[in-house]
Amino acid sequence: MKKIIILALAFITALQLKAQEGHQLWLRSKESLPVTVICTMHSPTLTIAEQELRNGWQGESGATVKLTIKKNKALKSDGFRLDKNMIEATTDLGILYGVYSLLRRQQTGEKMIGTISNPSYQIRILNHWDNLDGTIERGYAGHSIFWRKTNPFVVTLKDKALWKAYARANASIGINGAVLDNVNASPKILSENYLNRVKSIADVLRPYGVRVYLSVNFASPISLGGLKTADPLDSSVIMWWKNKVKEIYSLIPDFGGLLVKASSEGQPGPQQYGRTHADGANMLADALKPYKGVVMWRAFVYTANDDDRAKQAYNEFMPLDGKFRDNVIIQVKNGPIDFQPREPFSPLFGAMKKTSIMPELQITQEYLGHAVYLVFLSTMWEECLKSDTYQQGEGSTVARCTDGSIYPQKYTAIAGVSNIGLDSNWCGHPFAQANWYAFGRLAWNDTLSSSQIADEWLKMTFYKDASKKLRERNYKIDWTKNFLKPVKQIMLESRETAVNFMMPLGLHHIMSANGHYGPGPWWAPKGVRPDWTPPYYHQASSNGIGFDRTAKGSDAVSQYHQPLATEFNNLATCPEIFLLWFHHLPWNYKMKNGRTLWNALCYHYDKGVKQVHRFQQEWDNLKPFVDSAQFKLVQLKLSQQYDNAVLWKDACLLYFQQFSKMPIPKDITPPV
Ligand code: GCU
Repeated sequence: MKKIIILALAFITALQLKAQEGHQLWLRSKESLPVTVICTMHSPTLTIAEQELRNGWQGESGATVKLTIKKNKALKSDGFRLDKNMIEATTDLGILYGVYSLLRRQQTGEKMIGTISNPSYQIRILNHWDNLDGTIERGYAGHSIFWRKTNPFVVTLKDKALWKAYARANASIGINGAVLDNVNASPKILSENYLNRVKSIADVLRPYGVRVYLSVNFASPISLGGLKTADPLDSSVIMWWKNKVKEIYSLIPDFGGLLVKASSEGQPGPQQYGRTHADGANMLADALKPYKGVVMWRAFVYTANDDDRAKQAYNEFMPLDGKFRDNVIIQVKNGPIDFQPREPFSPLFGAMKKTSIMPELQITQEYLGHAVYLVFLSTMWEECLKSDTYQQGEGSTVARCTDGSIYPQKYTAIAGVSNIGLDSNWCGHPFAQANWYAFGRLAWNDTLSSSQIADEWLKMTFYKDASKKLRERNYKIDWTKNFLKPVKQIMLESRETAVNFMMPLGLHHIMSANGHYGPGPWWAPKGVRPDWTPPYYHQASSNGIGFDRTAKGSDAVSQYHQPLATEFNNLATCPEIFLLWFHHLPWNYKMKNGRTLWNALCYHYDKGVKQVHRFQQEWDNLKPFVDSAQFKLVQLKLSQQYDNAVLWKDACLLYFQQFSKMPIPKDITPPV
């Protein structure tokens, strides 16, 4: 009997490993060359580092590589130094990151010798919006890898294999944390059964340096603990959280901390007890402090009656600057509204000077075409991270205001809302994997360019397919010229393309309701909160279009530091990419190139559609370079994207035309 069970388990494991071949992301297995690895210390993490090096070595055949752990003032805790035949770090994890970096450099041809690499942020974390029934909020790649509805507490070998592959992928790009459940958190996550499952996950993730964190519901003391209140100043509530935190750490000694969405979109929070965000966050921070845990408290707040949703987070949080404990980090979405295809950066970055602030980016493409559109989000994040806030003079970029370069934050962190699920390619769209990759790389180095990130990802993901295919066909084609260059160009253009056919010139939040896929600028049923309806944002009428956030309007411009406040407020200096974000303008307003605003809008929509069409044509030429299943999948998705781009263009132009009453320019395909 025992033998049969062992055989069955071996068979299942073999199947799982096989299934994972298609799961290999940018870690495609390589034909490695022999290498001798010398490491005098031992730990599970170092064992992984040694194995990875042996399995992936592409350097000099028969070389000897030494892994050395020692103090070096130039290295931060996760940092490493690469030298000829040596990887040096101050921790085991630093060695592991060094190994992945070295292997990547061998594949991409990037410089190696003498490289010192330290992470920009201490906490580089994925937020999984995974519900305990296995569904994922805004997830487009299947169900959760952590939770499921049936047999929710059984941990199978398959679960463990998947979590391990997940941890490995994260470690390979430097991600070192994961919040396992949705920000709209179920109190049940803190019950004994779920905490035991969290422990199992943590045990698998640990050797790869990925610490687990949980999202918690602020009303848990009531719904789970049976208390009458969740008031953060109530002594029984304080005690409940202290005990709960103690219980968590008894299971998971390296637990990272808690993420909280409170007093936001109907979630319970301190405000319903007349307390502030600081009261709520500090109460949890005090419970976590003895264990070195952190609280990530989200600033995603807005109310139905606000005159301008874009201003609310700043208004609520600025007065609290300096009132948070040093283990509280305020988690701020990149823009002031909600992960739109383009937003200016949130004015909170750099403005809160005595509080740790962390950017929250969205990897899952909630507003950017789900798992259908090819959109490389790196350029969008780069735009945000490199935006100058001017808060401490020129060069106070969002990156530098949050990574500890300017303010002495005790903790620095950056979060990405994950796009992964049980889908056989993890992310739904082959190119969506590049967004997971890009998030990790930017979290490690917030000065990287999207061009470099795309370059690395393409080389690691596609080179093997192509070379094999080309070998089979026995003809010489220059891979760099014929594959890398055009695909990289598509990736780098892809986000602007989506902006063009969805929400050009600073338009925002005009997508279809609830699903957030496709256009819906007209959607405004009676009884729905106005700030959930697109007309609140585009303000189109016969007078013109755009949200007036100038000093004469909602005055959101004044939340930005000079010279930005004036630059955005003034029509002559406001960047056209943000025109209708900050200004309400007549349809015949003259753009810099002499076109009317209406015509400019028409041309942007049309350009976006043409760009997608060009992507399709270019992809069609790339068949010899890509595995045929992937090739067809991308082809299919591009054709769906094209159809949806046409829909965006036609729907928006027809809808806005009823107000502009101006003709569509003759050289644009008319809406049908
Ligand atoms: C968006 C999204 C929600 C999510 C929320 C958040 O509004 O549509 O699904 O819960 O952001 O970030 O909390």
